[in-house]
Amino acid sequence: MEIIYREAREDDAAALLDHVHKVATETDNLSFGKDSFNISVEKEARFISRFAKNPYDLMLVTLDGDTVVANGIIERERVLRYNHRATLSITVLRDYWGQGIGTRLMELMMVFCKSSGLKTLSLEARADNTRAISLCKKFGFEEIGIYRSFFKIDGNYYDGILMQLIF
Ligand SMILES: CC(C)(COP(=O)(O)OP(=O)(O)OC[C@H]1O[C@@H](n2cnc3c(N)ncnc32)[C@H](O)[C@@H]1OP(=O)(O)O)[C@@H](O)C(=O)NCCC(=O)NCCS
Repeated sequence: MEIIYREAREDDAAALLDHVHKVATETDNLSFGKDSFNISVEKEARFISRFAKNPYDLMLVTLDGDTVVANGIIERERVLRYNHRATLSITVLRDYWGQGIGTRLMELMMVFCKSSGLKTLSLEARADNTRAISLCKKFGFEEIGIYRSFFKIDGNYYDGILMQLIF
């Protein structure tokens, strides 16, 4: 099956929610876990539509048939003195790890960031998420600090690495 990369559309809402629910059970590296993403398809569609209408934000999906196997988001700050910066998030289903999908999504997000005139991009990765940290470094991100006890998961605290890319 051919893997397709494109911007998310409102009618991806159900498939995107399936993706989010699945990654939430597959990894503890995200800001949400398996019980923390209970929203309706309609609400997810509105969320996607907000990205589609706003030229400064981007939501990409990677599809294998009807399945959303990966998702990449660039979300720009709204406050005037911050809106030269944005945050990045990326998720790939575990069965698809190590096949270059994360890299391709990052390439597409970088093209968008450069063309939209962003000055800087950031993300926070769990300090032991070596896969995500390596992926980001490949694209020029630098570690700029450690945020102690950034995540609280099942009562345990985990540090976050703050990563930043300057364009
Ligand atoms: C992090 C994630 C997006 C990577 O996606 P992916 O599709 O597996 O990425 P790729 O196959 O393109 O590999 C990208 C890079 O990851 C790194 N990588 C791959 N396998 C690795 C491993 N076993 N250990 C450490 N780094 C590894 C390498 O730098 C690789 O680049 P290279 O192949 O040029 O050396 C994916 O694992 C994921 O969704 N994880 C769960 C969610 C998550 O952690 N998101 C990021 C939150 S900050």
